[in-house]
Amino acid sequence: MTPPPFSLVCPEHRQSVLSLSGDNLICPACGRTFSRNPVPDLLGYVPEENPTAAHYTKQWGSPLGFNRFLEKNKKAELVTMGKQLGWPKLFDNIRRQAETQEVKVFDAACGRGAIFLDLFRAPIPGRLYYLGADIHGALGDIQSPERILGEQAFFVRWDISEPLPVAEKFDYVICRASVHHTPDPARTLRSLKEALKPGGVLAISVYTKKAPMREAVDTALREMIVPLPSEEAYSVCRQLSVLGRDLQKTGAKITISEDLPFLGISSGEHELQSFIYEHLIKCWYNDQFGIEHSTAVNFDWYHPAYAYRFSEDELYSLVEEAGLVVAGFESNKYQHYAELRAE
Ligand SMILES: C[S@@+](CC[C@H](N)C(=O)[O-])C[C@H]1O[C@@H](n2cnc3c(N)ncnc32)[C@H](O)[C@@H]1O
Repeated sequence: MTPPPFSLVCPEHRQSVLSLSGDNLICPACGRTFSRNPVPDLLGYVPEENPTAAHYTKQWGSPLGFNRFLEKNKKAELVTMGKQLGWPKLFDNIRRQAETQEVKVFDAACGRGAIFLDLFRAPIPGRLYYLGADIHGALGDIQSPERILGEQAFFVRWDISEPLPVAEKFDYVICRASVHHTPDPARTLRSLKEALKPGGVLAISVYTKKAPMREAVDTALREMIVPLPSEEAYSVCRQLSVLGRDLQKTGAKITISEDLPFLGISSGEHELQSFIYEHLIKCWYNDQFGIEHSTAVNFDWYHPAYAYRFSEDELYSLVEEAGLVVAGFESNKYQHYAELRAE
């Protein structure tokens, strides 16, 4: 059984708190057992059986080294979306609050543990309690500051499309860059809402809809790349990084003489690689990442099974449909960020 402050319950028998049975957890109501190594696994399948879980097991797993690269290269991490929009301010607020009062955070689709590490950076807020859930198979690879895991922070393998099987409710539910990777984003939002305490905040970010030619190319390429096994998809995505690097190397610029609103192109001078990236094809490349780690970024765009993109209006409709109201909203070219409360 998970020690307080979180009690895992049976995904089937929601009133039944799981108890320890040797190396497993067991539901006292139905006798179903769940492995708890390296983290409690409340899903009924191995990551390889689910394309999204399989993708992110490769993306975050030790063998690829992308996680390690980002942890060691804080300057490189700064260019990722996680360091932009409302996230840094939200995390500062949570950390400040948790110095003096108990704050419970559910990090839904916690990925490689980046939010966990941000929240628990020194000095560690003494009254912060954290639960991270994800479907990938590399949760055991997440490195923790000393004495945090099992005391203030916990991880569980769970699908966030479904209500979290935990007895407690949360002050903050955070779902960064992940709702769009679930099969039914409206359902996911409804499930996340269920985890909120009254007055709690649900913070999300989702992909924006891009210029029409970029959307069309992305959709067509994803149709070809999504079905590929991870290794093959990764090597295809390497080609996009090489294209991005070589376009950048030209140093070329293009001047567009007037706004082309139908194409989502504005007049003025554009760097050639940025122009192609913004309007035609995601060929991401950054010198600090090099080809190898830039490829992980392109792979993250073209290979996951679901990658919905939203206009601002579409996101507002989705939020309303889930019975949530927008308390804060901002967008950049790539993602929308919203702080939501239950109606
Ligand atoms: C782009 S990553 C974002 C990770 C993390 N939220 C962050 O911002 O660092 C998307 C994550 O969503 C997770 N994910 C996708 N679908 C999921 C689902 N149905 N349930 C739980 N996690 C899911 C993936 O495994 C992956 O770790």
